[in-house]
Amino acid sequence: MNKIWQTLARMILPLALLLSTVVPLSQASAAARDPVLSTDFEDGTVQGWTPRGSASLTVVTSEKHGGASSLLVGGRQATWHGASRDLTGRLDPGRKVHMSAWVLFTDGPGEQTIALSVQRGFAPGSGKSDKYDNVAQAQAAKGVWAKLEADYTVPADTDMNRISIYFETPWKPDNQATPGDLIPFYIDDVTITENAPLEIQHDIPDLHTVLDPYFPIGAAVDPVDLLNDSDVHSDLLKKHFKSLTAGNIMKPDALQPSEGTFVWTNADKLVQFAETNGMLVRGHTLVWHSQIPAWFFTDPADPGKPATREQLIARLETHIKTVVGRYKGRIAYWDVANEVLSESGGLRGAEGGSKWKDIIGDADGDGFDSDYIELAFQFAHEADPDAKLVINDYNLESSMSKLNGMVTLVQRLLAKGIPVHAVGFQMHISNSAPGIEQMRSAMEKIAALGVKVQVTELDMSIYANSSEAEKPVTEDILLEQAKRYRELFGMFKEEAQKGYLESVTLWGMADDGTWLDNFPVKGRKDAPPLFDRALQAKPAYWGIVDPSKLPVYRNAMRAARGTPVIGAAPDKIWQAMKPTPVDQRVNGRTGAAAEARTMWDEGHLYVLLQVKDSTRGSKDSAEIFIDPNYDKSAVYLPDDRQYTIGPGGSVPAGIQSVVTETPDGYAVQAAIPLNKAGAALEAGGRLGIDFRINDDQGDGVVASSAVWNDYTNHQSTDPSRFGDVVLGSAAKITDAIYGSPVIDGEVDGLWNRAQSIRTEVWVQGLPVRRRLPRRHGMRITCTSWPM
Ligand code: XIL
Repeated sequence: MNKIWQTLARMILPLALLLSTVVPLSQASAAARDPVLSTDFEDGTVQGWTPRGSASLTVVTSEKHGGASSLLVGGRQATWHGASRDLTGRLDPGRKVHMSAWVLFTDGPGEQTIALSVQRGFAPGSGKSDKYDNVAQAQAAKGVWAKLEADYTVPADTDMNRISIYFETPWKPDNQATPGDLIPFYIDDVTITENAPLEIQHDIPDLHTVLDPYFPIGAAVDPVDLLNDSDVHSDLLKKHFKSLTAGNIMKPDALQPSEGTFVWTNADKLVQFAETNGMLVRGHTLVWHSQIPAWFFTDPADPGKPATREQLIARLETHIKTVVGRYKGRIAYWDVANEVLSESGGLRGAEGGSKWKDIIGDADGDGFDSDYIELAFQFAHEADPDAKLVINDYNLESSMSKLNGMVTLVQRLLAKGIPVHAVGFQMHISNSAPGIEQMRSAMEKIAALGVKVQVTELDMSIYANSSEAEKPVTEDILLEQAKRYRELFGMFKEEAQKGYLESVTLWGMADDGTWLDNFPVKGRKDAPPLFDRALQAKPAYWGIVDPSKLPVYRNAMRAARGTPVIGAAPDKIWQAMKPTPVDQRVNGRTGAAAEARTMWDEGHLYVLLQVKDSTRGSKDSAEIFIDPNYDKSAVYLPDDRQYTIGPGGSVPAGIQSVVTETPDGYAVQAAIPLNKAGAALEAGGRLGIDFRINDDQGDGVVASSAVWNDYTNHQSTDPSRFGDVVLGSAAKITDAIYGSPVIDGEVDGLWNRAQSIRTEVWVQGLPVRRRLPRRHGMRITCTSWPM
């Protein structure tokens, strides 16, 4: 490789990473695929792979993913050095393929990213330089084979004359590459298959049959072309959903792009499709500050001037009455007002990009400027008295100020006789937040006003926030998502049975059409819905339809290093640890639950279970299940243990345990002697663990049980379903002394009696030794206190 080429590669690669046409997809499609490439190195040859840069390639038997051999890629002197395989003539422009490969590294850092990329070259006269597409990346842990997998469409450049795939580590300039970036790695079982045309699974249960007893389950559709019989997405909709929302085509900019010109084609098509297929329609949306043409808010005589209050009210009335009137009796629910709250819970104004409030203001003089909302509901009600009218917003489940703002607004609207039937919770949530109980309590707060709740735009992003970089959709992520969909829909069903929740709509039916691929980060592929990019059911679907079909998701908790004293009361050191709730009910509706904490030293695992149990019975017990060698076997092997402890249980042999009564239940402390396969426990190691809290409510039978991890309740027979306990660093705790120091700019003498703690682990930034203000009875001499 010559120097100019190398320099170009360094400049172009990062750009190509951003612009690549890659669709990550971890879940395999059930559809059949023809092989384009299959290399497993089992014949002892390199099977057409060639060194990239200075790398050397050797077939070895010392490591292998499948069979007996793999390919060792060594001698790498730059991040882009690796192994390359020419596929010219096999990967033609426009071809859609699925790539998968396994990679391993055994030297260097604990974790390293290994990437699979594509290099495309162009005819000399084309004036184009080579392009580099990053297809898939795996964050591999040292010593563990990691899978790289993605769908890839060869860009349709007809002047492409060379194409190859290659493995590398993420690009860095040569002078920044560390030895960890240049590690040798192994590759194995590299396959490329042609993607078969999309086909839905006909042999799985219809989603709606599981949910019909509770609420109509709906999906947003965008674009409307998906409703053509020739498009397989329409089969997916017909099979699984009972309600449709237009993703875009019923918004004001689509229905009335210029004043008086209504465009009905797409909306008519959607309503017609729903009727033909026995689905109801949620109309979305009449009044919004977004996706509304500018003419609404400008003076018809002079577009340089804003519309007057009277002009805007007249337009509001015409728009709503024309649209709602056209579909009278055919659209069950209308999102009348969308996103009218500001982040602080007041009415959105110019700061939030809305002109509605500022122009219409307090037209009826009652002291409130929500008149545009009130009028919108009245116009909609006049146009179709049977349609249920909804006020819809986001973050109601996560932001107290928005929820409180909605409560205040709806209370006032109802008191004024405005026909508000339901509050729509958009519910653009993520795999990690908010908590299920928080969402439940937000819904119940609304239901307490006497209006219904509708979930109108549910999706569950795999990203926690907009700063997270694109990541591959791993099996773990999908199982975590499935677990959350299972819990969420469990809560939805309960709220529907209470008469609070009356409809649930997902914002998109499959990963291939999710708006979150471009929001809040453009081009960052997400995977929120229940079906994947090949329209196959994801674990999330099974989480709702039949969780027994899923492997149990492994939660992880952290054990701090330390040796708590097992005594008359739990050792103070436990207070340094975050508790983990043991509250998934596997039997009964209500009853005892617990908070668990774990610690470890070389020879023991320590457990503290603080059980909340308001009834005492002879069969009350707390069970601890442990898989010390972490082999996750599906049957009990000699190392696996089950201990039953508690006020009603006997103290198991071989461990030290104490049960003490607490004001709201009891506490179990246990010291369990452990060594891992004969060796001492080590920081960074993992054990399998689960807990079960059994509640005898006084009549000698276990009426309820709550567990931490295995919600299928097979702890006693199947250690593969336990969660993980990760052996972490030392627990630290300090005493806060009693006293009231004066905070006045002078250092109160009292502080000299307070303990000083020091933190030496930096989580971010560079260590700068400085003294922080001393407060709350502790002196803290640094910024981060690791726990
Ligand atoms: C989104 C659509 O899905 C996108 O296609 C469009 O580009 C922007 O709007 N809240 C809403 C929906 O009420 O109308 C939005 O829909 C998503 C957020």
